[in-house]
Amino acid sequence: MSKVHVENLSKYFGAVSPNSVPALQGVNLSVEDGEFVTLVGASGCGKSTLLRILAGLETHTTGAVQCNGLPIAGPGADRAMVFQHYSLYPWLTVMQNIKFSRRLKVKRENLTSSDVEAASGRADALLDLIGLTKVADAYPNQLSGGMQQRVAIARALMGKPDMLLMDEPFGALDAQTREVMHDLILHIHRIEKTTIVFVTHDVDEAIYLGQRVVLMQPRPGRIHSIYPVPLPGARNQEMKHATEFRALKAEILARIRESTGLATDQDLLD
Ligand SMILES: Nc1ncnc2c1ncn2[C@@H]1O[C@H](COP(=O)(O)OP(=O)(O)OP(=O)(O)O)[C@@H](O)[C@H]1O
Ligand SMILES: [Mg+2]
Repeated sequence: MSKVHVENLSKYFGAVSPNSVPALQGVNLSVEDGEFVTLVGASGCGKSTLLRILAGLETHTTGAVQCNGLPIAGPGADRAMVFQHYSLYPWLTVMQNIKFSRRLKVKRENLTSSDVEAASGRADALLDLIGLTKVADAYPNQLSGGMQQRVAIARALMGKPDMLLMDEPFGALDAQTREVMHDLILHIHRIEKTTIVFVTHDVDEAIYLGQRVVLMQPRPGRIHSIYPVPLPGARNQEMKHATEFRALKAEILARIRESTGLATDQDLLD
């Protein structure tokens, strides 16, 4: 059974009229358990809308969307989201931020002290996984952007979600930090085995991280093609120079240019 199953999905914002263009139309997608799928495409093609529907933060208009065989009817602990702008609590330390959602759960469900201990162990392990054990007691404003985003990822993983939904999580970071984060998220994926759906504008990022790249097109937002990435499972930065990588990148960029009505480099300059 697929982890996520999306069938003939459409999404209209506001009232549907004969002239309205759906944000999503006829979207079909299955994501396997433990898979790392990236969504790429021009601005406005519905990447965030699709991710938010999977997160249960947005409703869909027609079609079906399921997680673990059940309709998605709202947010759930089985799905965690990471956004571009680190949403850490500035008044809590790194460790307190990571444990925060867990603390609410402990209060709500009257968990026992051994549950709390297990949660502490999990938080320590996650801190180690993201390489920030030394700054457990620091506050977010004492950390770099990349470090803050690591904490946001650890916090999302705290409840052991089945699925991590990431919307341009590294979009605000500099190129070097992004490379480090790419290898970190691949490492996390190997260790945690979480299914990941990752939205990006960056074609290099989409190919380097994804086992499959879903290319979307705008007006109406829809899937143009789904490309299996012809690279070994364990990635390294050298692979960005491989012929297969460069060929897939050229193909995807050409399709994105077509979808924005900019067919050639010359058009981009005009
Ligand atoms: N809350 C909203 N109300 C009305 N229209 C919306 C809303 N959210 C998104 N849209 C529209 O839906 C379409 C898809 O938007 P979406 O944000 O999903 O695109 P995107 O691919 O994530 O774009 P970007 O790459 O710029 O983040 C766009 O035309 C957008 O204007
Ligand atoms: Mg978006």
